[in-house]
Amino acid sequence: MLPKVMTIFGTRPEAIKMAPLVKALQASPHLETITCVTAQHREMLDQVLELFAITPEYDLDIMQARQTLRDTLCRALAGLEKVLVQERPDMVLVHGDTLTTFAGSLAAFYQKIAVGHVEAGLRTFDKYLPFPEEINRRLTGVLADLHFAPTNVARDHLLAEGVAPEIIYVTGNTVIDALRTTVSADYKFVCSELNQLDPSLRTIVVTLHRRENWGEPIAAACRAIKRLLTALPDVQVVFSVHLNPVVRETVFGVLAEQERVLLVDPLIATDYHNLLARSYLVLSDSGGVQEEAPALGKPVLVVRTVTERPEAVAAGTVRLVGIREDDIYNATWNLLTDQEAYQAMAQAKNPYGDGFASQRIVQAIEFYFGKREQRPEEYM
Ligand code: UD1
Ligand code: UDP
Repeated sequence: MLPKVMTIFGTRPEAIKMAPLVKALQASPHLETITCVTAQHREMLDQVLELFAITPEYDLDIMQARQTLRDTLCRALAGLEKVLVQERPDMVLVHGDTLTTFAGSLAAFYQKIAVGHVEAGLRTFDKYLPFPEEINRRLTGVLADLHFAPTNVARDHLLAEGVAPEIIYVTGNTVIDALRTTVSADYKFVCSELNQLDPSLRTIVVTLHRRENWGEPIAAACRAIKRLLTALPDVQVVFSVHLNPVVRETVFGVLAEQERVLLVDPLIATDYHNLLARSYLVLSDSGGVQEEAPALGKPVLVVRTVTERPEAVAAGTVRLVGIREDDIYNATWNLLTDQEAYQAMAQAKNPYGDGFASQRIVQAIEFYFGKREQRPEEYM
């Protein structure tokens, strides 16, 4: 019998980053693969499942409107326990830092099933930033039997916490694997409004959703965007607005009906990645976008005070601009008006991977189960 590996995810970013890994696991002759989604997100998850043609064996369908942390965690934990008892996988794979990630690793621990943590070792060292993700990923790190660190920085965090070096693999980030399949020069957008954007204007792509930014920080960023559009007539904004009603109320409250602002519902990942590729710069509090945009040569201004992705800051492609209106406005205005500063950010190197992270992770799992003699080569 082949070792059975169950992949567990629930939100959009986990799905985008797990999709290449699901495909790579399915291609392995040494492993049996099974997929379970909590559906902590519903529509935003389904977009990704459809795009990558993944049909989960289990769908817990737990999302509720305006769900709380506790209720989401409890529903995920209860649903996952049933699935794990029924399927008895030999390992579960979780990704990153969401409630689904923590619930998946805790449910597996209770069943004494091995846990592999993909995108392990990211830290801000601030318990509440981002909230609750910093603690979700640390708790998952405590429970994990295999840690797939995207970079050396992440590996060093784990080593400093006492994780044994032989259970850490530096793999690169699977999001770069996904990007290899989604971006093309002649791409035509599925969202028709994107095909009608004015090509003579510079496009700023915006996403904002972080829980700690709900309310004033998101409103401040929206006001800064409004002022930028008045100051710079050759700029347009495409804002992909998260389905969370808390976020939507703030964003639509400030930016609805604004000239040169296109507010769109969450785009399918191919649309979003190709939009990034054609943009001038990105303004966001997203985690994944801090990895994707640098790989596409696009500067990212991050609406946060700290980031768990210091590699991109060091490489010069990502800059933290804080959460105050004037700081966001000034940093964006500077980048839009200073060619030299722009070129420096746009030409920096992507530190997040070579597109083969999933392959390394599969090889490491095969090695763990004795299906491969050699420990796989690591990234960098
Ligand atoms: C979650 C993750 C966050 C991740 C983000 C990615 C936690 C605590 N948070 O935050 O780490 O960065 O996903 O986007 O795990 N909604 C819909 N349809 C959807 C998705 C969401 O209607 O497809 C609405 C629902 O009202 C839902 C709300 O958004 O209750 C919030 O979803 P939730 O997963 O709790 O939090 P996010 O802010 O999306
Ligand atoms: N994304 C997408 N459509 C959009 C906006 C973002 O597919 O309209 C993708 C983006 O490419 C990235 C991921 O969603 O891969 C980031 O998700 P999000 O910002 O929701 O979560 P985070 O990365 O902050 O956890």
